[in-house]
Amino acid sequence: MNNYFSVQDIDALNDWVNEAIVLKKNPLSHNYLGKNKTIGLLFFNPSLRTRLSTQKAALNLGMNVMVMNFTGEGWSLEYEDGVVMDQGNSEHIKEAAQVVSQYCDVLAIRAFAKLEDREEDYKEKVLKSFIEYATIPVVNMESATGHPLQALTDAITITEHKKVRKPKVVLSWAPHPKALPQAVANSFVEMMQRMEADFVITHPVGFELASQITKDVPIDYNQENALKDADFVYVKNWSSYSDYGQIGSDQQWRITEGKMKLTNQAKFMHCLPVRRNVVVDDAVLDGEHSIVIEQANNRTYAAQLVLKKILEAK
Ligand code: CP
Repeated sequence: MNNYFSVQDIDALNDWVNEAIVLKKNPLSHNYLGKNKTIGLLFFNPSLRTRLSTQKAALNLGMNVMVMNFTGEGWSLEYEDGVVMDQGNSEHIKEAAQVVSQYCDVLAIRAFAKLEDREEDYKEKVLKSFIEYATIPVVNMESATGHPLQALTDAITITEHKKVRKPKVVLSWAPHPKALPQAVANSFVEMMQRMEADFVITHPVGFELASQITKDVPIDYNQENALKDADFVYVKNWSSYSDYGQIGSDQQWRITEGKMKLTNQAKFMHCLPVRRNVVVDDAVLDGEHSIVIEQANNRTYAAQLVLKKILEAK
């Protein structure tokens, strides 16, 4: 494997998930693989889990790690070809990507959606430009439209916890005071389409995800109906795709203990960070069926598997 840009870069999902679970049992088993190799982590947005788990994954493989926060520290980048650079941007992606490729063996990038122009965000200008001009593999640490490291983590976590071959998995929208991208939800949907799962999405009218991603996944606009008999409840806010970037803060959609009682003692999942008592009540997040901390722990093994595959292919 060269780049890990989306869930579609996973060639054999069951094998990947099983290999990650084996890595988790012995994380240092391949600590020779990254010897004298360097990963560069470039952040255009904040992070806790992605930053630390990807570093941890690289260290477990014996790699050196360099981290750079681009916003406020790096030169502002120009992405358009042939442009006269007499405005704000100081450096063109063509040089930046090639220069970083001199210092690193693998590059990982986080660059969120701006949520101002849907067509621009869905072009994935930042990630795709780095992939075009870098001469080393590129890993997506959450781009404008996808978070495939999170989705691989979620597949690992569901596999570890499922009690039946084909669990019922519900992706439920929940309220949030700020406009959030659709990236986590998009990649989770793509992942569930590839897993053996009875998968349903529930959200208010007007918060449909892109139809080219959801395809024929059933959508239930009645949250309580969707939650019935669920084995896993995956909760996430996203801003509107159709009325692009519109905030959704309807508290009727907050996840409560009462709603979780409708499920089959479902495991509660969230990618974190989560706003307590806005997205989900304390009682659910702190309850015995919440697996969010274990889910966050699995970020390391998802990243480690992806880096291992890249290093093995080099
Ligand atoms: N889930 C996730 O990507 O967390 P961070 O934004 O903290 O990296």
